[in-house]
Amino acid sequence: MAQQVQGVIARAKGEPVRIETITVPDPGPGEAVVKIQACGVCHTDLHYREGGINDEFPFLLGHEAAGVVESVGEGVTEVAPGDYVILNWRAVCGQCRACLRGRPQYCFDTHNAKQKMTLADGTELSPALGIGAFAEKTLVAAGQCTKVDPAASPAAAGLLGCGVMAGIGAAINTGNVGRGDSVAVIGCGGVGNAAVVGARLAGAAKIIAVDIDDKKLRTAKELGATHTVNSRSADPVEAIRELTGGNGADVVIEAVGRPETYEQAFYARDLAGTVVLVGVPTPEMKIELPLLDVFGRGGALKSSWYGDCLPSRDFPMLIDLYQQGRLDLDAFVTETIALEDVEKAFERMHHGDVLRSVVIF
Ligand code: APR
Ligand code: ZN
Ligand code: ZN
Repeated sequence: MAQQVQGVIARAKGEPVRIETITVPDPGPGEAVVKIQACGVCHTDLHYREGGINDEFPFLLGHEAAGVVESVGEGVTEVAPGDYVILNWRAVCGQCRACLRGRPQYCFDTHNAKQKMTLADGTELSPALGIGAFAEKTLVAAGQCTKVDPAASPAAAGLLGCGVMAGIGAAINTGNVGRGDSVAVIGCGGVGNAAVVGARLAGAAKIIAVDIDDKKLRTAKELGATHTVNSRSADPVEAIRELTGGNGADVVIEAVGRPETYEQAFYARDLAGTVVLVGVPTPEMKIELPLLDVFGRGGALKSSWYGDCLPSRDFPMLIDLYQQGRLDLDAFVTETIALEDVEKAFERMHHGDVLRSVVIF
């Protein structure tokens, strides 16, 4: 039986979100209905409601979520009712060229639920990032659910579904940070600060946090940065070089998504160092680099898509570290809020004093 629940809907470009009754169908083949316990508020949700992603209004927002599988459709083997899971953007196919070459994070044929959730009048909803978890229940592809330790707090666990995973993964997966490395992180919002945490987890000896906001730098320090640089008052490239014996960092992670910060990252890396772009640029953005500098400095310029994560590998591992007290995910939960307060959380984002507001059900 299809169910009616409350969800946070963005009806039209720029309009404040509101709570509406939605219909969640029974799971079809390969699908699961998940009872959401917590869902973080991410910039991407705001971006959807501002019309910046695509024009498929109305959206059911929310995508950084943990919950319990309520029911599964035909043929589902990944999860069973009662499993505690973290949701991810897409289920990988396991059969395409990328999957077969051992790079499922670049799967060409990822999928979400086939059926649509709807408004009361039958209008089909577009779930944010194929999830739509600002709702008491949501419909996803079963492969989007990853089972983790049920003792882990949902508010913290859900954050691994997006921004925090993007940052940690940029350090441990894409940047391949190793023991004793020097790492610089440019831009210390939720994503950059998660990269600081990832670098620490990987055993980096020096972690240099760069931002234009002292508040963000204070948080970075609490999370494990060994040095901080405010790039409004100092040239970040020079500062990073100075802090690394004149060399530059082994790994520089750019978590802003702007040409000038990417260029800083490029020049702040050591010879043969790695630059990781995790900040998402807009289509118009360009940079110009002297080819001789690209050639002469060696190393690697990489981008990190969703932290190059493989949910089935990374979510349970990071939750175990969290449960052991070795990964402080709670530090990213600035406040817990009710479903009605998502619009207020969007407003607070602009002030820059929140890493994550998390809706608790
Ligand atoms: N130099 C250094 N830091 C900067 C600069 C700059 N020129 N401009 C902005 N920042 C800082 C901001 O002060 C803020 O702390 O970058 C940080 C950006 O953080 P958020 O806005 O909180 O964004 P976040 O959620 O962390 O995402 C960062 O990663 O995944 C992508 O789409 C995401 O492009 C976005 C980026
Ligand atoms: Zn695939
Ligand atoms: Zn997100």
